[in-house]
Amino acid sequence: MSYHALEPVPLYGPDFAADPHAVYAKLRQGGPVAKVEIAPGLPAFLVLSYQAALDLLRDTDTWSKNPSVWQETVPKDSPILPMLQYRPNVLFNDGAEHARLRSVITDSFSLIEPHDLRRRTIEASDMLLRNFAERGTVDLVTEYARPLPLVLFNALFGMPDHHSPQLIRTIAGMMEATEPDEAIAAGAEFEQYVLELVTLKSEKRGPDLTSWFMDHPAGLSLEEVIHQIVLTMAAGHEPTTNLTSNALSRMLSNPDYYSTLSGGALTPRDAVNDVLRNEPPMANYSAHYPRHNVRFHGTWIHANQLVLVSYAAANTEPQTGTGLPGAAALGGPHEPAGMRTGAAPSDGGSHLAWSAGPHACPVKQPALLIAVTAIERLANQLCDIQLTVPRAELEWRAGPFHRALAHLPASFTPLTPDQAGVTPWTSSSRTRRHATSPATAGPA
Ligand code: HEM
Repeated sequence: MSYHALEPVPLYGPDFAADPHAVYAKLRQGGPVAKVEIAPGLPAFLVLSYQAALDLLRDTDTWSKNPSVWQETVPKDSPILPMLQYRPNVLFNDGAEHARLRSVITDSFSLIEPHDLRRRTIEASDMLLRNFAERGTVDLVTEYARPLPLVLFNALFGMPDHHSPQLIRTIAGMMEATEPDEAIAAGAEFEQYVLELVTLKSEKRGPDLTSWFMDHPAGLSLEEVIHQIVLTMAAGHEPTTNLTSNALSRMLSNPDYYSTLSGGALTPRDAVNDVLRNEPPMANYSAHYPRHNVRFHGTWIHANQLVLVSYAAANTEPQTGTGLPGAAALGGPHEPAGMRTGAAPSDGGSHLAWSAGPHACPVKQPALLIAVTAIERLANQLCDIQLTVPRAELEWRAGPFHRALAHLPASFTPLTPDQAGVTPWTSSSRTRRHATSPATAGPA
């Protein structure tokens, strides 16, 4: 019997989180499109093959990003709605409206100079390092990779530094809430943060993303500005956290990487490329809905049904080509062996970690720079850092969309503020703070 004929396979829960590639391998037995469940009783189709993924992502005549019809079929309290329900932002719109909203984000990010982003990332890294450097132990997910993009966004969107703990607290509150009341309270606090930000920038513009969103020739309304800020922070936070922490987990558990801390062969950039291919931070997403009934790579799909693309499965689809040494060396449960033909370890080769087509990540280069810089900074400051739990025993967060470590415990020789040489206490203060770009700059 083909696997296709069985009940939809759950993409939630501990089994999938523990070994997603085993699930993708079984699903592939039924063909390039599989039936899955993304929450109890909530079905979706999952595209597993690289070619089928590209066909879908590029065919905007057949596929829409707008979930409005589909979401009417979903219980209002479904846990997946926050990721999938319609909002007037770049992710859920098609065509001209999508292009209009997207131009605001791409134009505004293009105003951030790479050297300035690098400097700000180093400052954010050092700020976090100072919280645990004296301790000699750290959870690299909760104390470094997860807060880091938020410290950075707080600055890039133009909020004073003392607001970053508020942003970190509200996002952690939304992610870690165990009761609906807690999640609602954290959500309200996040809303308050964004309102304060927009009020601040309405009164006085600065060289920051919020001001550039407001002044963009696309002419966003205030409500649209708020939606683009929320989306950009949400779209940027989780995958950047996962890219950083998944790469750190690989570096700190593979001697080929580990020796790089004292001059070995593989670099943080290699670790990042390894993750992009084999463990993409966004594992399954790209929610699309057919505009009409369609037969897609052998499967009939009704209009407005939910179809997700598995970037993780497409990237690791078994090929006739050779494997990637970095991945194979790591092992672990069902570490994918098949790689796309022609893949080069140095540049990551062809993969879909950033998606493809009109909705591909518009902030790819800045995101890469942030993750690589954050890893380099940590490795430079804590040069004997090592994991305290073997990688194979690390806990992954359950959920269909992200490949996300729950924790990444590590230890190192403690640093002290009065230590000779460069430390997180002395190094950042030597970099002079200046604006992201000239105060008068704005999207043309
Ligand atoms: C500074 C960090 C980042 C920001 C601000 C950001 C922002 C965005 C935005 C605004 C979109 C929506 C684009 C559209 O609909 O046209 C998007 C899409 C996407 N981003 Fe990023 N991103 C960041 C980092 C990352 C990282 C680290 C990854 C993973 C490697 C990633 C993977 C993706 C993917 C796969 C999509 C397509 C969304 C989908 O599946 O529907 N992004 N990103």
